[in-house]
Amino acid sequence: MHYRPLPFDTSLITSIVAEHPTPFHLYHEDGIRQRVRELYQAFAWNEGFRQYFAVKATPNPHIVALLAEEGCGADCSSPAELVICDRLGIGGDAVMFTSNNTTIEEFGMAADLGAIINLDGPHHIEQLKALPKLPKFVSFRFNPGAERAGNVIIGDPKEAKFGCTREQIAAGYAQCRELGIERFGLHAMIVSNELQVDSLLATAEMLFELAVTIKQTTGVEVEFINLGGGIGVPYRPGEKEVDLAEFGTGVHALYDSIIEPSGLAPLRVMMENGRSITGPFGYLLTRVINIKDSYKRYIGVDATMSNLMRPGMYGAYHHLSVLGKEQDPNVGKADVVGSLCENNDKFAVDRELPEVVVGDLVVIHDAGAHGHSMGFQYNGRLRSAELLFNDNGDVKQIRRAETLDDYFATVEFPKAADLRLAEDRY
Ligand SMILES: Cc1ncc(COP(=O)(O)O)c(C=O)c1O
Repeated sequence: MHYRPLPFDTSLITSIVAEHPTPFHLYHEDGIRQRVRELYQAFAWNEGFRQYFAVKATPNPHIVALLAEEGCGADCSSPAELVICDRLGIGGDAVMFTSNNTTIEEFGMAADLGAIINLDGPHHIEQLKALPKLPKFVSFRFNPGAERAGNVIIGDPKEAKFGCTREQIAAGYAQCRELGIERFGLHAMIVSNELQVDSLLATAEMLFELAVTIKQTTGVEVEFINLGGGIGVPYRPGEKEVDLAEFGTGVHALYDSIIEPSGLAPLRVMMENGRSITGPFGYLLTRVINIKDSYKRYIGVDATMSNLMRPGMYGAYHHLSVLGKEQDPNVGKADVVGSLCENNDKFAVDRELPEVVVGDLVVIHDAGAHGHSMGFQYNGRLRSAELLFNDNGDVKQIRRAETLDDYFATVEFPKAADLRLAEDRY
């Protein structure tokens, strides 16, 4: 059993698939709203707390807009993500630009939006200088190197390309101040998909202490601490969801013991979660199109790794339900596969499943973050539609499926007159 019961029944899905061919991503609006309200509740003690949704997780304007209705800002890392904010009218300090390996043009776009610019290192200050107007509000991304262990998705901090050292941050603030920038923040993103509250709290403790050191050594008083994202999703049965209230209370205690006595209070706490906000509330719906028995049983579905690459890329586990057969007993193991010519195009390996027949609908759980957004077109497989539904039963298509015309839109086909095909073979 999955830890969250499906928020829809077979009849809703039957009516959706009558209009929208599988595969498609389906997001549960009420679930997303509820989740972000829980996060705000957990940090209600901190005046000015703000969650910036990591747009990369689910870069659909409807999702970003509904989160903005809930008070979220947007954490962007690329021009496309900034365009989403611009088109929605989200700007100023509601946008955090946390990028890496960035160009002057990208900083220019973020500065035009009035975004808070989170620098990956002091080398970026040179790029800021090249802008027609300096940003008012800058923060730095800290990488603790050997001081901290990361985790499997984000990797070992000292091997990570992100962020900069303590010394670079201190020097960076000083340089920014010389340029006339006066408002500062501090950021880190050390762990990803983390389910242990202690590990999440360790980031808060590390950043609070660093903010105090920076005040003592440089006189710079940061206005906010951005704890990054990283709250995990319990993808596997048996894993436990992060208790947001426990996390918020833990950060509060650290704030009281480190920030209050330092004179830095009031200090805003910020986060830029993606996965935990939309991940559990998105489902990839796909239909069984083939069943093959060779050395093992292969259940072929009409989605591929191009719709959800996490299992293929990280060996990530995603729970599967066969719609209408959730209560049926498992009858044996199978691999659930897509049709890419890559053997890692598998949604599940050796998964115990009930009796499955061609035509069954399979629900792939927890696909709402880094699902559609990581899509690609290898093998000419196309990205699917995205749909949003709510508890009133309203269903809205928020992105159509790609077509072959979209796929070929960027291709320059050779002109027939220029072709020199060997006639005897063609
Ligand atoms: C800079 C930054 N912030 C926030 C996030 C969101 O993290 P998560 O989706 O784990 O909450 C990411 C994810 O890759 C990131 O790179």
